[in-house]
Amino acid sequence: MHILLMGPPGAGKGTQAEKLIEEFKIPHISTGDMFRAAVKQGTELGKEAKKYMDAGGLVPDSVTIGIVRESLSKPQCADGFMLDGFPRTLDQAIALDGILKDLGIQLNGVVNISVPDSELVGRVTGRRICKACGATYHVTFNPSKVEDVCDKCGGNLYQRDDDKEETVKNRLGAYHSQTEPLIEYYKKQGVFMDINGLQDINKVYADVKAALGCK
Ligand code: AP5
Ligand code: MG
Ligand code: ZN
Repeated sequence: MHILLMGPPGAGKGTQAEKLIEEFKIPHISTGDMFRAAVKQGTELGKEAKKYMDAGGLVPDSVTIGIVRESLSKPQCADGFMLDGFPRTLDQAIALDGILKDLGIQLNGVVNISVPDSELVGRVTGRRICKACGATYHVTFNPSKVEDVCDKCGGNLYQRDDDKEETVKNRLGAYHSQTEPLIEYYKKQGVFMDINGLQDINKVYADVKAALGCK
């Protein structure tokens, strides 16, 4: 299973990825998660990425493509992976084709979770994440049983720095101008599948699995 999860900010990529990795035990490669980890560790990569993330823009391709190449080259990715949030530009998509060709891997599917902009701002601003295990919640749509405490591990929940309303609008702008054109790119490759992300989380998951041919 070599899959890409695509969709605008807040569409539910991370939420669906959490479920898929639990069921299918494949590595989850999220460039956003990698950048946030680097910011937390205070590395040079983190300092560089933070400038762009805080503004709601994209981290330059020269930085992003290198870290994905490194991740996909690890032996645990040979039997499957789920890429979330990469590629996001045409140059990243072309680079990914080259990386996969070098590794002798073919994509099984590009799953796009479609959600209109009007819904996304509320999803992103209401998101809460567990500091300890990374599980994702939403204050209204997917609340934890106890406020600000993770159901899975008891960790504290926090809000991402880039989940403020102004930043979300810039992220949506970057999505429409730079990432949305990739839909046509993958349609031409014959691997594109569109999922209605406006349904509840479990129904979206059922559709994702059906699209991938899983029961
Ligand atoms: P990244 O971390 O990838 O953020 P994003 O693409 O903006 O997407 P999100 O993580 O915000 O949303 P999601 O689709 O995962 O939604 P989630 O499941 O959490 O990137 C962050 C930044 O890093 C970028 O802005 C950029 O600067 C940089 N970056 C990353 N990759 C890059 C790249 N390739 N190139 C350059 N720069 C890059 O769900 C959202 C909320 O909605 C949650 O609260 C959830 O509980 C709720 N929810 C989920 N599904 C549903 C549903 N069906 N119904 C109701 N609520 C739902
Ligand atoms: Mg995410
Ligand atoms: Zn947790």
